[in-house]
Amino acid sequence: MILVTGASGHVGGELVRRLAAEQRPVRALLRSASDASSLPDGVEPAEGDLNRPESLGKALTRVDGVFLLGGFADMPGVLAAARKAEVGHVVALSSRSVIGGRPDNAVAAMHLDTEAAVRASEVPWTILRPSGFMSNTFEWLPQLRAGDVVRAPFANVPIAAIDPHDIAAVAATVLNRPEHFGLSHELSGPAALRPADRLAALADALHRPLRFQAQPDDEARGEMLSTIPARYVEAFFRFFADGEFDDTPVRTTVTEITGRPARTFRDWVEAHIDVFRCG
Ligand SMILES: NC(=O)c1ccc[n+]([C@@H]2O[C@H](COP(=O)([O-])OP(=O)(O)OC[C@H]3O[C@@H](n4cnc5c(N)ncnc54)[C@H](OP(=O)(O)O)[C@@H]3O)[C@@H](O)[C@H]2O)c1
Repeated sequence: MILVTGASGHVGGELVRRLAAEQRPVRALLRSASDASSLPDGVEPAEGDLNRPESLGKALTRVDGVFLLGGFADMPGVLAAARKAEVGHVVALSSRSVIGGRPDNAVAAMHLDTEAAVRASEVPWTILRPSGFMSNTFEWLPQLRAGDVVRAPFANVPIAAIDPHDIAAVAATVLNRPEHFGLSHELSGPAALRPADRLAALADALHRPLRFQAQPDDEARGEMLSTIPARYVEAFFRFFADGEFDDTPVRTTVTEITGRPARTFRDWVEAHIDVFRCG
């Protein structure tokens, strides 16, 4: 049995669907059992809160592998619960911002702390260190509903963004495979794109005359502070305005591990075209 955390999210959702399609026994961790109706047939729901390791006992029962999101209140406690349940393998989702990442940067620190807890856990582990996600582009949906102009921060910063589908494909491949125990895999998409490049791909796919406007840093900071804690906003500005994190390198790891190339941004758009068409 594989337990997938973040099962209603971008990566976990893709992984649950993939494992179910491969007819592998899969259990989805949900904060509320009322969300179970959206799970594919055959997927077992389990309730639990990753901020409360003591709530995870039932979900971890008879589990061979766990796909684990990071950044929760007590990651050593979550890993201790996995060890107590004799979980055979943890595949932890980190970020490649840890590579050269500074512990005084709140986002890098969140992932560095998660990785440290995983490595210290004595549960066999594999760490996935992806680039930024293509699914972050969903943030533009309100602007796309309102008109043809998209304003976004960090206009000059290219990112080799990855499709969550590919992170899930890598996770499904490495789960319970001993040759991946103790390895950290850096993952990226196939090309480094600026926000305007992503918008051009959307415009082309949607046949819409979309226009990009670079958002000034002050405006972006104010907007981000309305939804994201200040220490994380500061971390993102250090990453992308001050250049602390280079998310441009293109890696071939997805191909090497899954046997097929990483999906392009255009592939990601096509896979979610209905969302962009209907808003
Ligand atoms: N976005 C990026 O560019 C990027 C890059 C590198 C790494 N990452 C990391 O990737 C992770 C996953 O990203 P994603 O886009 O797949 O996530 P997402 O779509 O935002 O979904 C988050 C998932 O976590 C679940 N969750 C939240 N709090 C929880 C809790 N206390 N207990 C149990 N489950 C909880 C949510 O469940 P509910 O439905 O109950 O809310 C949801 O299923 C993030 O945590 C982030 O740190 C992201």
